Amino acid sequence: MTDISIPLPKCQHLKILTGQKALVTGGSSGIGKAVAIALGQAGADVVVNYHSDEDEAHEVADTITAAGSKALVVGADVSREEDVQRMFHQMLDSFGTIDILVANAGMQQDAPLDEMTLKQWQKVIDVNLTGQFLCAREAVREFKRRGVVDEISCAAGKIICMSSVHQTIPWAGHVNYAASKGGIMQMMRSIAQEVAPFRIRVNSLCPGAIRTPINADAWNTKEAYDSLMKLIPYNRIGEPEDIGRAAAWLASDQADYITGASLVIDGGMCLYPGFAHGG
Ligand code: BGC
Repeated sequence: MTDISIPLPKCQHLKILTGQKALVTGGSSGIGKAVAIALGQAGADVVVNYHSDEDEAHEVADTITAAGSKALVVGADVSREEDVQRMFHQMLDSFGTIDILVANAGMQQDAPLDEMTLKQWQKVIDVNLTGQFLCAREAVREFKRRGVVDEISCAAGKIICMSSVHQTIPWAGHVNYAASKGGIMQMMRSIAQEVAPFRIRVNSLCPGAIRTPINADAWNTKEAYDSLMKLIPYNRIGEPEDIGRAAAWLASDQADYITGASLVIDGGMCLYPGFAHGG
């Protein structure tokens, strides 16, 4: 079966997040945009954080508003402590609290190891890993202060860390990125262990190849797409909405007993496709 035109599931967006307040970092494009929209469609009011593309962030906010939820656009560099604290203050001022953090903002700066500069290493670690630490810390402070509100959610708060299949798959030429995602895995699990007694759930989503600007070179020509399919048994690239739907479900009370988990969403990329015939 090699048909890549198989239709995506047509999911009705159930309002499983009604009354909840969500923050999505890096919510102006790619996976973050799809997650912000999915949470809004599921009934959450959403803070759409952006770093540089303010216009796109406002378009995302308009889509959320059209779905009947509130949206607030906030610019911040998640790797800067003062920016993160200002963003949380703005959110708490406008929305009163936070129930869901999706720590999504991330980037790649690829180079062979012997050409990678310290600046490239540091930048990716700062945004992808330190940025998630700073946001998770502020979210946990508010979750602990407020506690569980029965009519809103079974949990006092939910954190979803955007990781990657590269938290486990090594990736030559991308050691800064793979190290940041491996770090997210143990940061997420350690935070989950620490805050579970406070009824705070912490999990990761681990996307494989998703059709976004970050990896356009891997899918925007026929040759690249065909080569990518050798790594994906399910034989289609992921769409940002595949991640959006999973985020809405994982943040909802339908996933209430799940904490410390990494949910891989990759069309089978982690299944060692090279072993399908042979080994
Ligand atoms: C990366 C993409 C890549 C995918 C699968 C993601 O985490 O950001 O660039 O295509 O992993 O390798």
